Amino acid sequence: MTDIQETPVGVGGIPRDKAAEPELTGRPITGERYYTTEFARAEWDCLWPRVWQVAGRVDQIPDPGDYVTYDIGRDSIICVRGEDHRVRAFFNVCQHRGNQLVTAETGSLAGGDFQCAYHGWRFDTDGTLNFVPDEDDFPGGSPCGKSNLAEIPSDTWGGFLWFNMDVEAAPLREWLAPVADHLDGYRMENMKRTHWVTVEGNFNWKCIQDNFNESYHLPYVHPETLASMNEHHSGSQFDLYPSGHCRMLMPGGGPGPNYRGRSDRTFKSLAQDFEFWDFDPEPYRENLAGLRAALQQQKRRLGAEKGYDFSNYSDEQLTDHYHYTIFPNISFSMKPDGCIWLRGAPHPTDPEKCIFDMWYLTLFPEGVTEYYSNSMHDFVSIDSQVEHQTGKAGEVSCGRGIDQDVAIWDTQHAGLRSRGFRGATLAHQERRVGFFHDNIDRHIEMGPLP
Ligand code: FES
Ligand SMILES: [Fe+2]
Repeated sequence: MTDIQETPVGVGGIPRDKAAEPELTGRPITGERYYTTEFARAEWDCLWPRVWQVAGRVDQIPDPGDYVTYDIGRDSIICVRGEDHRVRAFFNVCQHRGNQLVTAETGSLAGGDFQCAYHGWRFDTDGTLNFVPDEDDFPGGSPCGKSNLAEIPSDTWGGFLWFNMDVEAAPLREWLAPVADHLDGYRMENMKRTHWVTVEGNFNWKCIQDNFNESYHLPYVHPETLASMNEHHSGSQFDLYPSGHCRMLMPGGGPGPNYRGRSDRTFKSLAQDFEFWDFDPEPYRENLAGLRAALQQQKRRLGAEKGYDFSNYSDEQLTDHYHYTIFPNISFSMKPDGCIWLRGAPHPTDPEKCIFDMWYLTLFPEGVTEYYSNSMHDFVSIDSQVEHQTGKAGEVSCGRGIDQDVAIWDTQHAGLRSRGFRGATLAHQERRVGFFHDNIDRHIEMGPLP
């Protein structure tokens, strides 16, 4: 028998307070938002330059001179660790005549400078232009120290490198409210990226964020979830925050009360979790509703022995789905020992294409450097940077569940561009989708960033 008294005193975890429901406009979500260059242009001018974005992981740039680049839409950003160990972000553009400065995705200057391939201008890691060939040939005087790289706000949180193209942007932590406060306990800065997959999709980037803003599709796109989680909206909590970010709390560790399937199906779908946690589900064959609490208690009991520190987590966090969407285009799907990190980003020129990233971040148990990831069905190692896999939808895998999502976006986009589509009809449980589009409109109404 489980004994709730065994739960250590002080285990609180993430607050589960329900956010006040915002008023939604109910404006139609039409196909044009997904395929017209006009709408993509409005997003490019008004939305993307105002939002905090992720360039990479902090552990990619441990030493001075290490850098990563990240391309978003028509821009490219460099994040570099300076000689003073500070991380800075710059537009990846030489101020001489506009050549892109760096073409590698990641690299190290190893004590050197960024050097433009066109005419050899060189920039320090703090962005200062420090060498120009024929310096005395510039009528206005030497550009050194003047035509420096264009720096933009940058910060780190959760082990991610963040930047914002708006020099007036609010601080990252403020912008992330309340999500950063909620997710601090997962210590994502200690997680290691163990899968790094980029899919070049033939669909608009919003198909991705729409999808991760609702769970209505689970029984059809992911039928296996019926047996392993309480996927019905009546069992979940949806929170829509004034910042534009959202979350979904969905009970896991067993099916919901509406499940009419066989217990074998449940046992099979949770088999790896049961095995890892030395958990015998047999006593719950006729009482699947009891699985969740029993599994929570087992994880609580064996956590330390397995190398985990679960003291920051509530019992719910040990089994349930804590799914956060960050406006406009990032999702964190939290697990006690990892995170599925998802991002949809616009194609530089074609609104009918996009870039979809799936990273799996693994929290390795204490003292373990290699182990079998239940989520990715693969052995992962803490010692090496994972290889970046890129390809078209269907060519690279993001893991079974996410692959199911990717497969639907192609056909959805094809339908969205049909003249027969009259606009979305949203269920109440899909209100995060409406909220997402309202927030895009709110940005567009602000006008282009000056
Ligand atoms: S464009 Fe970079 S040095 Fe000329
Ligand atoms: Fe899905």
